[in-house]
Amino acid sequence: MSDVTRPATTGDTPGGSRGRTAAVIPAAGRGVRLGPGAPKALRTLGGIPMLIHAVRAMARSRAVGVVVVVAPPDGAAEVRNLLDEHALPERTDFLVVPGGETRQESVRLGLEALPADVTSVLVHDAARPLVPVDTVDAVVEAVRDGAPAVVPALPLADTVKEVEPRTGGEPEPVVATPERARLRAVQTPQGFDRETLLRAHEKTAVSGEGATDDAGLVELLGVPVVLVPGHEEAFKVTRPLDLVLAEAVLARRRATDAY
Ligand code: C5P
Repeated sequence: MSDVTRPATTGDTPGGSRGRTAAVIPAAGRGVRLGPGAPKALRTLGGIPMLIHAVRAMARSRAVGVVVVVAPPDGAAEVRNLLDEHALPERTDFLVVPGGETRQESVRLGLEALPADVTSVLVHDAARPLVPVDTVDAVVEAVRDGAPAVVPALPLADTVKEVEPRTGGEPEPVVATPERARLRAVQTPQGFDRETLLRAHEKTAVSGEGATDDAGLVELLGVPVVLVPGHEEAFKVTRPLDLVLAEAVLARRRATDAY
């Protein structure tokens, strides 16, 4: 692996009329909620770093021609080495750039590195290593069919309350209970027309923790965002119990597929 060594092609578009699809993978988070240890994306699942699972999940889609990994600011060399060590499809170009202080900044740095011939962009959290390729393809297809912003999402099992947040386990006053049937939990990869996503990131400066959802930035432009069905295996590995679930999903796949 090295930074885009193969010539730019429109490999995913046989007619060459449309540009390539890229996947930007923000992987620069520290993952403090998982407990002490390596940055979250570098922790292993089934002996393989979560980031490599996420990269493979994107590259498994034949539509994805370029993958940009946004590494921890001081970990770009380590991430390049990891990509070199693990088998990845020949047809895909890989780039690694250092990330920023917030997810929003990391995504923006990834977007700045996109090759010129990219017209559609997926943004996929390294923390969702097990997203199935069918979900990735469904998002790409909706973008190619003309939707400027596409998000995989699932209905909620839990009822959700809006609260006045308190710290330290203090009781939190409830402000509202949105109707559960109208709520969706959103996942990644989120897919965008490149120009729309760039405009969205340019318009909204990072404030505080920054945006946790790229589609939310597009909504602020007044551009429509649509949802497609997500997948339960696209869950985000955030807390220690999620690691247990991810290992179980991986073990089941390895037992049943040629994974
Ligand atoms: O913290 P959270 O789970 O919301 O992070 C979602 C994704 O954003 C993770 O893949 C994480 O590595 C990435 N991230 C990043 N740069 C940051 C913070 C988070 O790339 N500064």
